[in-house]
Amino acid sequence: METSAPGFFGNSGNGRKWMEGDELTMARKDCCSGYSENISEYSEYIKEVIGQPISELETPALMVDLDIMEANMEKMMAFLKKSGAGVGIRPHAKTHKTPQIALAQMAKGALGICCAKVGEAEAMAEGGLPDILIANQVVGHRKIKRLAALSKKTNLKVAVDTKENLQDISRESAKQGGKVGIVIEVEVGNKRGGVRTVEEAVEIAKLASTLPGVWYAGVMGYEGFAVFMPDFEARKAAANGAYDILLSFRDAIEEKAGLDSEIVSAAGTGTFQFAGRRQGLTDIEAGSFIFMDVRYGDTAGVGFRHSLAVVATITSHPEPDLYICDAGLKSMSREFGIISTLPSYGVKVSNMSEEHVSLRPSDNPHQLPGFKELNDKYAKPAKPLGIGDKVLLIPSHCCTTVNLHDIIYAVRNGKIEDVWKVTGRGRFV
Ligand SMILES: Cc1ncc(COP(=O)(O)O)c(C=O)c1O
Repeated sequence: METSAPGFFGNSGNGRKWMEGDELTMARKDCCSGYSENISEYSEYIKEVIGQPISELETPALMVDLDIMEANMEKMMAFLKKSGAGVGIRPHAKTHKTPQIALAQMAKGALGICCAKVGEAEAMAEGGLPDILIANQVVGHRKIKRLAALSKKTNLKVAVDTKENLQDISRESAKQGGKVGIVIEVEVGNKRGGVRTVEEAVEIAKLASTLPGVWYAGVMGYEGFAVFMPDFEARKAAANGAYDILLSFRDAIEEKAGLDSEIVSAAGTGTFQFAGRRQGLTDIEAGSFIFMDVRYGDTAGVGFRHSLAVVATITSHPEPDLYICDAGLKSMSREFGIISTLPSYGVKVSNMSEEHVSLRPSDNPHQLPGFKELNDKYAKPAKPLGIGDKVLLIPSHCCTTVNLHDIIYAVRNGKIEDVWKVTGRGRFV
């Protein structure tokens, strides 16, 4: 049986097309131009630093190296193409929360994007994103009102795991004249939301295909319990086990409800290569691969390069073997462990408090294969550190670090090329 989604941005029919050509150019232009008006509180400063080297930044400042980030995006697209399994990417925007980056991913061939929250999805739709899956439940009448309203601006889909939630969404969406795609979340071992039985999934799918204001879009199952497993083979087995479950739900929905699943979505940065080779999956949801962080850099076989760093200034050198810099817990999250710095500085992070990071000389600085490009560009040739010097610190977790910053400095060849407002920052409601 055919499913259908409303047309947006000139798309019609199944809602699987992405913006291209002039449409995408226009959205990028609307969204990416006029950075100084968008970030008015920083506008004078931004005008001054555009085109300048990162040594001109007031710190702590979040930067992304554009060449490395774009290479990561291209590597992912090339992998998916080469795998030949027919799996696309709907990258998670919780990582960057920045429409310009999401639009760049669309321009490279992403099917759409994922968001975690209605607020994040609103920020992305405002930034011109034409296709958004909220890979999470949205509950409560006020949020459902916002969800329905948003479905009139972008091709919107949401994860659902109860009939009651589906009915609430349908009622509000029909009232507002919206059309929300329903993606049934399946529990694949993550112990979060998600239906636990095939019967529940079939009932929800049937209902979604008959109720007004909604349409049945497919299934998702995120194997988050597997993404950081240190042993590559164990991770592969765990991920494939999760996809077996997800695909069995898809099959049951087809057999018992007569519905095709347009979306069968799974995977994070630690499991993309298993999902990307798995026939039957349609989208991978990975987000962190564009930036990387220490935790993923430490995870075997992930293979992307670090493009994201917090630029900090050394503000004190009170002892021969102690340097203090001006980043800290308010500019870098630490829930995934200690942050790192680039190996050529010859130091190690020894402590972190609210507004300070302590560095100590080390003959054995933290080395990760993915640091190489950033290190070669920004820390070589190695020279003794002193007060006023800038250092690049690598977050332990990119997504929660981005959420601490108003802006991202987009850097190419060491110079600030653009400044982006992190419009999804703090939009967790
Ligand atoms: C629903 C969902 N999909 C995908 C991801 C993957 O993200 P990452 O690339 O950071 O592993 C996450 C991470 O939390 C998630 O919650």
